[in-house]
Amino acid sequence: MPAANSVMEKLVSLAKRRGFVFQSSEIYGGLGSVWDYGPLGVELKKNLKERWWRSMVHEREDIEGLDAAILMHPKVWEASGHVAGFTDPLVDCKHCKNRFRADDPRIKGKPGEPDAQCPVCGSRGTLTAPRMFNLMFKTFMGPVEDAAALVYLRPETAQGIYVNYLNVQQSSRQKIPFGIAQIGKAFRNEITPGNFIFRTREFEQMEMQFFVKPGTDSEWFEFWKAQRMEWHCGLGIRRDKLRFHQHGKDELAHYAKDAYDIEYEFPFGWHEFEGVHNRTDFDLSRHQQFSGKKLEYLDPETKERFVPYVVETSVGADRTALVVLCDAYHEEDVQGDQRVVMRFHPGIAPIKAAVFPLVNKDGMPELARRIFDDLRGRFNAFYDDSGSIGRRYRRQDEAGTPFGITVDGQSISDGSVTVRDRDTLQQERVAAERLGTFLAEKLTA
Ligand code: GAP
Repeated sequence: MPAANSVMEKLVSLAKRRGFVFQSSEIYGGLGSVWDYGPLGVELKKNLKERWWRSMVHEREDIEGLDAAILMHPKVWEASGHVAGFTDPLVDCKHCKNRFRADDPRIKGKPGEPDAQCPVCGSRGTLTAPRMFNLMFKTFMGPVEDAAALVYLRPETAQGIYVNYLNVQQSSRQKIPFGIAQIGKAFRNEITPGNFIFRTREFEQMEMQFFVKPGTDSEWFEFWKAQRMEWHCGLGIRRDKLRFHQHGKDELAHYAKDAYDIEYEFPFGWHEFEGVHNRTDFDLSRHQQFSGKKLEYLDPETKERFVPYVVETSVGADRTALVVLCDAYHEEDVQGDQRVVMRFHPGIAPIKAAVFPLVNKDGMPELARRIFDDLRGRFNAFYDDSGSIGRRYRRQDEAGTPFGITVDGQSISDGSVTVRDRDTLQQERVAAERLGTFLAEKLTA
């Protein structure tokens, strides 16, 4: 395999060339660490989100869905601890005006002291002492831009779930233990963003908060840890590229009693893409205190009242997309020819099948079109009649399309087509009328 940096460079270039991910506002020079998803990327991310939603909400009776607003009452963020604590220590260079995290390994010396050296312009003694910088984006609600109108773009979706937990519990008549799942945008004014869509300023989270009786939290924590790891393996991600990392005391967030990251070995090293957290009753107790509203649960059987503990699973949709992009990327030699193939699990592949007439004559385009029209009623399919068949296969290999269907001369005489498997490169003949069922079975396997 090529070196780490070059894999990322190749992936970023393929993502742009094939329409997975583009830089935001590119014609204006781009906007730092904000990305747009192109035709293939939006399908990939949508498939990931749908798969998550199905496994959390549709396949479980004890989890309900929610779609809370991005803007919330500013007191939410005081209660959650984000106003006071969601900060990074920053230093400025008074000479070149660049800004750095105080713990930036490139800084020589202690910021604020005369010998400290700016990593960009090299000046000594120009770095300020660290100041805390809040990562929440601010905006104003209504026409007056003053402190009373200040609102934040949410830095996590979780709080929308906490403030609605009794609404959901009562309207859906759930009993503890139960969960609430949500997929939505979150925003963080990250100081050291980077690595493509790994750390961005606007991103999507898929979060599930599971409300349990205090004392049962550790058991549920173990349950959800295992479930989430299995979910990732079910996406086809190589198991040896996944691992748990338990947070040490110095890493634990202010709300957490215990926390594990699920990490993936990216080309730039092992990094977190999901967190499983035991958040105790921290958030609900704080919202109870700040809102003055009781957020206790009344157990209908024992008549006990308590503030539930929360076990959270929190995964980034964009970061998971990067995991599957990295995991799928393969370069290989096929009979002396180099091919790049994205080996996506068929369930999340942006395009499930591509249809090709071998040549644009002798009734082949007409039959291929009919097959394509039939398939796209069932799943995302693609029609391609330009260039040699070899080039068309290569283009679909880069898009990660698991099946290539070719209509050839024999198709016209006996109604069969060839189905090419992206990974094994094996071709088999299948009756065109059986194609829908044949592919459906492969896609759900
Ligand atoms: N509610 C808990 C929470 O937000 P987190 O560890 O800060 O916990 C959870 O974030 C997940 O959200 C991360 O594992 C990552 O996948 C994603 N995430 C967080 N910050 C991100 C960023 N700046 N860009 C992309 N994804 C991010």
